[in-house]
Amino acid sequence: MITQRPKGTQDWYGADIHKRTIIEAAARKLCKAYNIKEIITPAFEHTVLFQRGVGETTDVVQKEMYTFEDKGHRSITLKPEGTAGAARAYLENGLFAESQPTKLFYFTQAFRYENPQSGRLRQHHQFGVEFFGSASPLAEVELITLLMEFMKEIGLAGAKLHINSIGCKNCRKTYNDALLTFLKQHEDHLCTTCKDRMQKNPLRVLDCKVPSCQEIVKDAPRTLEYLDDDCKSHFAELQRLLTELGIPYEVDTGIVRGLDYYTKTVFEFVNAEGFTLCGGGRYDGLIHEIDEKQDIPAVGFGFGIERLINELEAEGVELEPEAAVQLYVGILGEEAKASAYKLVHQLRNAGVIVETDYMNRSVKAQMKYANKIGAKNTVIIGADELANNSAKVKNMETGEQTEISLGQIAELFIK
Ligand code: HAM
Repeated sequence: MITQRPKGTQDWYGADIHKRTIIEAAARKLCKAYNIKEIITPAFEHTVLFQRGVGETTDVVQKEMYTFEDKGHRSITLKPEGTAGAARAYLENGLFAESQPTKLFYFTQAFRYENPQSGRLRQHHQFGVEFFGSASPLAEVELITLLMEFMKEIGLAGAKLHINSIGCKNCRKTYNDALLTFLKQHEDHLCTTCKDRMQKNPLRVLDCKVPSCQEIVKDAPRTLEYLDDDCKSHFAELQRLLTELGIPYEVDTGIVRGLDYYTKTVFEFVNAEGFTLCGGGRYDGLIHEIDEKQDIPAVGFGFGIERLINELEAEGVELEPEAAVQLYVGILGEEAKASAYKLVHQLRNAGVIVETDYMNRSVKAQMKYANKIGAKNTVIIGADELANNSAKVKNMETGEQTEISLGQIAELFIK
């Protein structure tokens, strides 16, 4: 027997899949109002896309990717996140040539070889939005307002918005010098990966998950102190807009995000324990990194569905329950089977949730089953009912019975 799923994965069924459906429906409804179109990209991409896009020195690329050689000797990687694939698709399909901006949303699986623990899976799911073509802080504001509405819609109340700016390539130069000087003083206590990262891309040391590195970087210089004029005014404008719109936020200089493509704004929605539920930011350099002929600003976010569901549970949010079976059609006798099933079919076509017997149960057992599945009403169709063209519909809550013609049953429920 092979009945164990791989570590860090989850089977989706029952209550969880119902929650996920509600979450997706809320996201889709909002994206429609925001005129954001859906995109689905492949589950795997050429490895080089993530190496270049997400960054060679990130934890994701260095330690967490599911990479393999396919039968054609190509290096392939299961996508660890949604942005790089969406950006590749935006370029490959010439979406940049249409009137800008291009606003895309997706629901994607993401694969990261992480140490499974609460909130960290090896296969997780994200609701993401990518907004290509706008350099304005209003694009960040649009994503943030969408996220606030999304959380409101599903009833999540406790997540707080944290923002920061990590500047652009221009500011990075002076910042990296300052950070390197700081890190050199603590080099002996850094993990081996960080000792190497320190030289190649010191910013990445700041999001290392090794506790001793995390302890050191608490006192590291902050990107905000090294912003150039353009990045400074972008961040000031974002804050002005958020304030004017009455959106509460906190500037958290500790946010650098774990992926290399970010420039200027980075933001997260965190729960009361400071755990990140959703992360995003501006990535004005990614498009150029993938296709050097293009230079297009972009901003986006990814919201982890599993983390969202955990958080809903932690906050005690009750989502709308799954729609109940409205009618259980019991079958009495072989000769009534086809007629009963015709009725079932007719009701289902009209959108009524109906269940019936597939197990050749006795009428008593069928009623027990109807009760167990929470059917709101029952009716039994047998030879007598067919001959008299009449049946009794029983309300399972009140016990009340209504005798009506078979033709009226559909009407009763379709109403
Ligand atoms: P990220 O912060 O790496 O960003 O992931 C986004 C969200 O996915 C996280 O906030 C978290 O909720 C969830 N998540 C990440 N890793 C795991 C995991 N191992 N297990 C469970 N949930 C996880 C990105 O992926 C960027 N692509 C977001 C983005 C879009 N930035 C711009 N556009």
